[in-house]
Amino acid sequence: MLLAFAGTSCSHEPETSDAASKTDTMQFNDPHSLAQPTVAVGTHLDWHATVDFNTHTISGTAIWTLKSSPDAKEVIFDTRGLTISKVTTDGDNVAAFTLGDTIPGQPWMGQALHIPISASTKTVHISYSSSPDAAALQWLSAEQTRDKKFPFLFTQSQAILARTWVPCQDGPGVRFTFNAEVQVPTGMMALMSAENPQSVSADGIYRFKMEQPIPSYLMSLAVGDLAFKSVGKETGVYAEPSYVDACAEELSDMQAMLESAEKLYGKYQWGRYDVIVLPPSFPFGGMENPRITFATPTIIAGDKSLVALVAHELAHSWSGNLVTNATWNDFWLNEGFTVYFENRIMEALYGKDYADMLKVLEYESLVETVKEFGSDSADTHLKLKLEGRDPDEGVSDIAYNKGAYFLRLLESKVGREKWDAFVNGYFTSNGFKVMTTEAFIDYLNKNLIEPNKAAFADVDINAWIYGPGIPDNCPKITSTRFEQVDAEVTKFKGGSAASSLATSGWSTHEWLRFIYQMPDDISPEKMSELDKAFKFTGAGNCEIADAWYELAVRRHYTASYDAMDTFLNSVGRRKFLMPLYKAMMQTGQEALAKSIYAKARSGYHYVAQNSLDDLVGKP
Ligand code: BES
Ligand code: ZN
Repeated sequence: MLLAFAGTSCSHEPETSDAASKTDTMQFNDPHSLAQPTVAVGTHLDWHATVDFNTHTISGTAIWTLKSSPDAKEVIFDTRGLTISKVTTDGDNVAAFTLGDTIPGQPWMGQALHIPISASTKTVHISYSSSPDAAALQWLSAEQTRDKKFPFLFTQSQAILARTWVPCQDGPGVRFTFNAEVQVPTGMMALMSAENPQSVSADGIYRFKMEQPIPSYLMSLAVGDLAFKSVGKETGVYAEPSYVDACAEELSDMQAMLESAEKLYGKYQWGRYDVIVLPPSFPFGGMENPRITFATPTIIAGDKSLVALVAHELAHSWSGNLVTNATWNDFWLNEGFTVYFENRIMEALYGKDYADMLKVLEYESLVETVKEFGSDSADTHLKLKLEGRDPDEGVSDIAYNKGAYFLRLLESKVGREKWDAFVNGYFTSNGFKVMTTEAFIDYLNKNLIEPNKAAFADVDINAWIYGPGIPDNCPKITSTRFEQVDAEVTKFKGGSAASSLATSGWSTHEWLRFIYQMPDDISPEKMSELDKAFKFTGAGNCEIADAWYELAVRRHYTASYDAMDTFLNSVGRRKFLMPLYKAMMQTGQEALAKSIYAKARSGYHYVAQNSLDDLVGKP
């Protein structure tokens, strides 16, 4: 029997060309999960857990409600580093569970938890404890927080780290609802991808409910000294108490973003939309945990110039959380659509000139990435081949920016009106379902290309999806605001003093453009002149600081190094770390990279450590 909502690891079904039947009985192989959800699938989780800041463990019971095929003899969950103390079925029947072997060379896969069941088994109860070095969890001491009163814990489950804190069928193609009861130290607040509290509970117990089915990579938990501030009818911000006002001020456009997103692509399906601003070691810019985006504090720039990140995570409420990539090979469906949608929200709120700057920066970054991978590398295909590899390797500008530019190409062929109707229909008719690249192509052919055949006569969609590099028909975007920046760059290159340049009113993006346009052979004297005029070294805006430090390292402008050291020891966002360490490694400054990393590593999250161990070497 084939279950309607699950992938299969052993499909011999022929590929059908009918998109509807495909999404109903979706056939796909998820190479990054050991579960077999077509045999028996967990459809609901009841989670009881205690968060222990002394042992750095979460322990408790995961009770899974099952839906099984008639011949099911076992249910399999993904685990990694979990200590399983007991498994029972339907309450108190002790089950003889086994843990499968780890896969040599693929530690990210963890171990399969096999639980014997019969077809009539309704629930399995798994009592377990996470490991102190669980990859999804970052435990911070009170010293590592802003207010220094309580420790802090946050999770990062995407792509396949949920299995390090909950035994689950850890692939994006499996969805479940959940309830949770979580015990934390009194005085601390706990938040999950669910209905959340807005104040601290007296006894440290929090109860959560998520009624919409979500995949495991969207499971999240944050525990800390937190306060809430509303910024709109359905929107608000959580942060440490001394920071929450500043964060709410910075993110005051969230409600308008939500409303403009709904106007574009249909009703928001998740109830509230809140953001938690985490401590600076959060390894990503943002993470689209349903109902509660997790965000880095590096977007709190003081001038609202980095709020596109919130538009991005909000957009995932449709692309990703509602229509979900079937496997990590289809990651571009999540991120490409989201970058596209993010830009439409930014355009609706802040105008075309602003959105054009973001698009140009995306393009430039994409060109760099293709150069790095090599223009014929399979890693530049939209559809990825991550079998046997850590899915983290698929996180690059390809899925994001090549994906978004592909969608912009499609838009340009039919115009906005038809395109928006198509995208709207895509989200509506595929809500709470999974999408393979192939099912998307079928849907696209049926609903956009065939009805507008002539417009697509010269578009080879396979070249974009299954081919390398940036195809020639990639839309060319220009930015009038960047043209003005480039004029100032030309003046500077021609000998005008930095202090004489017309830079007033520039936003973060104009400054980034300016720094990126500096010549490869810029002299230390010119660097110093720029620094004096614009105070780049030690800049409070992390985007600008990061771009400047990369240039400084490449030009051996040592006057910035102390500030860069401080930056690398206080920020854990991988997007900022990688370019700086890479620049040091590539320019004969390995010793500097290694000495900074040796000090800073313990403050970074596992995913950043993992990438940097590969680049710099484990200290
Ligand atoms: N879902 C991603 C973050 C992610 C991707 C985590 C893959 C783990 C594996 C999130 O939506 C994202 O794209 N964040 C970006 C934000 C940006 C593109 C605006 C980031 O963190 O920089
Ligand atoms: Zn994203």
